[in-house]
Amino acid sequence: MDLPRVVVGLSGASGMPYALDLLKTLQGLAEVHLVLSQGAKRVLWEEMGLSPKDLYPLAFRVYKDGDLGAPIASGSFPTRGMVVIPCSATTLAKVAHGLADTLLTRAAFVHLKERRPLILVPRETPLPLPTLRAMVQAAEAGAVVLPASPGFYHRPGSIEDLLAFITQRVLDHLGLKAERAPRWGE
Ligand SMILES: Cc1cc2nc3c(=O)[nH]c(=O)nc-3n(C[C@H](O)[C@H](O)[C@H](O)COP(=O)(O)O)c2cc1C
Repeated sequence: MDLPRVVVGLSGASGMPYALDLLKTLQGLAEVHLVLSQGAKRVLWEEMGLSPKDLYPLAFRVYKDGDLGAPIASGSFPTRGMVVIPCSATTLAKVAHGLADTLLTRAAFVHLKERRPLILVPRETPLPLPTLRAMVQAAEAGAVVLPASPGFYHRPGSIEDLLAFITQRVLDHLGLKAERAPRWGE
């Protein structure tokens, strides 16, 4: 059975454990097409002591951010959707304004233009006005802005529980089923 294709973009914001949790959960659920920005490589190392190569086993294909000729740069390459996790303020601003000068931002642009799910997971706090405005603009363009702000009503007992909360919400927006976190009322 063909798995749905999901593009996962990592940009240079804090929150790499969220990205790792999502990538691990997508195993067996989706064909993952992965791209990391320059900033993401640095933060991945600082936060997790990992290099991009460590993520290769978690993806069907990994692209260079400068490879603007990659399949995910084209609307003719069908996907279920794209997630930018974590989403830096820089990448958010680029996506909001239609800048597509890297593969990650081009793939995000393509998801907006093709009206496919684009889920942006920023982590920044507090939020300056330019980022707040970019969030509104991205949402108006069709993106889902899904901040990495886990709830506490499921009484998380570990960091893994907090990560699972965000992964669950992302999967919901992609229409993928995996019960990672208890749902309210269940
Ligand atoms: C350890 C570390 C943590 C960072 N955390 C954030 C962050 O949470 N949010 C953010 O917008 N930028 C953060 N930055 C800065 C971005 O990585 C930087 O602005 C980068 O140019 C973003 O570009 P990119 O979106 O193409 O990765 C961080 C940088 C480092 C080194």
